[in-house]
Amino acid sequence: MQHKENILIIDFGSQYTQLITRRVREANVYSEIHSHKISFQEVKNINPTGIILSGGPMSVYDPSAPDINLDILKINVPILGICYGLQLLCKKFGGKVEPAEDREYGKAVLNLVDESKLFKSVTNNSKVWMSHGDYLTELPEGFKIIGKSDHSPICAIENTEKNIYGVQFHPEVAHTEEGKKIIDNFLFNICNCKGDWTSENFVENSINEIKNRVGTAKVICALSGGVDSTVAAVLVKKAIGKNLTCIHIDTGLMRKNESAEIKKVFDEKLNLNHIHIDASEIFLSRLKNVSDPEKKRKIIGNTFIEIFEEEAKKIKGVEYLVQGTLYPDVIESVSVKGASVTIKTHHNVGGLPEKMNLKLIEPFRELFKDEVRNVGRQLNIPEEFIQRHPFPGPGLAVRILGSVDKEKLEILRDADDIFITSIKEAGIYDKIWQAFAVLLPVQSVGVMGDARTYEFVLALRAVTSVDGMTANWYSFEPDFLSDVSNKIINKVRGINRVVYDISSKPPATIEWE
Ligand code: XMP
Repeated sequence: MQHKENILIIDFGSQYTQLITRRVREANVYSEIHSHKISFQEVKNINPTGIILSGGPMSVYDPSAPDINLDILKINVPILGICYGLQLLCKKFGGKVEPAEDREYGKAVLNLVDESKLFKSVTNNSKVWMSHGDYLTELPEGFKIIGKSDHSPICAIENTEKNIYGVQFHPEVAHTEEGKKIIDNFLFNICNCKGDWTSENFVENSINEIKNRVGTAKVICALSGGVDSTVAAVLVKKAIGKNLTCIHIDTGLMRKNESAEIKKVFDEKLNLNHIHIDASEIFLSRLKNVSDPEKKRKIIGNTFIEIFEEEAKKIKGVEYLVQGTLYPDVIESVSVKGASVTIKTHHNVGGLPEKMNLKLIEPFRELFKDEVRNVGRQLNIPEEFIQRHPFPGPGLAVRILGSVDKEKLEILRDADDIFITSIKEAGIYDKIWQAFAVLLPVQSVGVMGDARTYEFVLALRAVTSVDGMTANWYSFEPDFLSDVSNKIINKVRGINRVVYDISSKPPATIEWE
């Protein structure tokens, strides 16, 4: 999609790069992340309204330190360098950066020493968040100091002629008290953005774009019941009406009553033209005695594609496939992709478009999950549906460790339902990114009445997160956990022990498989 206003974030590997993008978007200005390897021509094609250089873990003098093409810095749009970004600007324009004696990490005080557009209405001596080992010791020519801190005599700089600004601290993190104001000043006071990138405009533009692109062609969508594919389907339906057919495949790996509930919402609330296929027997028979997580994912993915393809072929003249792909899946950045190994293969419908020779419609390729939720609200999708926790494509198959069968699915479904219902009743469902139960392939001894039991262990998992990339375990009240545990052990035959997972991501992942 073309954007009237676009802030280009150039990534040098900081853990906060995504946060910068989010802060800019929260100010209703579109922004996207690109690797520092981006070419000058690519930058020109993007035609950014402003550029922000992220922080990064390296020192600018490190031989393998990420660099940037100098032409990009001379492109004549406003630039803001943050931490490493500032140091790189300084080096590129002839200043000096040196290792600090003490690493400055944590809170510092920003002393404003000169007037600057960047610091309009910013309170003097506010707290800022630092995280660096190097600092500026000499200004590049044409730049002046606009802020200092105890450890960084050159903490913020500007060159108004070149429209280049730089700060040693991280305005994007919440610990920087005036961070939002500083970023807003860069956007509105320096880049002169209007800030009209809203979900309302997004919906309007997307509908027009999809209409123009698709014309009268037929479109299909694999409707999982999750937020992303549902919001995508509703949006595409607004654009092309009855030419969209949705297909929901019940894998038999869904939660308690889930498939029936989803069907009801699709029919009654969203009026989505959809085909409902119960394929649970095929999935279960293919998963029999398979315990390797990646093998399970592959079987589920391939079976899904096979069934979907078969159904889709029955609809004549299909040219497009709708997918709810999100921005974190497509970001081409140092910090996210880097030298990453495949931890889990998440994309269960990968390969489908090529195989079926379909063109893709991915309306949310540029959005984060919370932004998709806002689009859903704009489209009047019921709030309880929008707030649903994410659910993995392979479903309960990755929450039953080891091999999957009907009996274990029943046990897990009942336990999970008690956990989630209790969370909803306690009014904390929306505070949690994802909560679920995991059935462990471990049996332990217990005593019920006067009898010895030897039954499964169930783990409960609940995490908070912004985008699923990092997560913290949720801190329930002990009474709540004890209640849930009692209910599960009393009501669900097959479980005699409940444990709570207190691992964060990283190093653990959210799902257990
Ligand atoms: P992890 O477990 O990698 O999960 O920390 C991050 C997010 O991704 C979801 N997830 C999946 N989603 N297919 C999916 O569609 C998968 O195979 C899959 N595995 C994990 C997980 O629920 C969490 O939201």
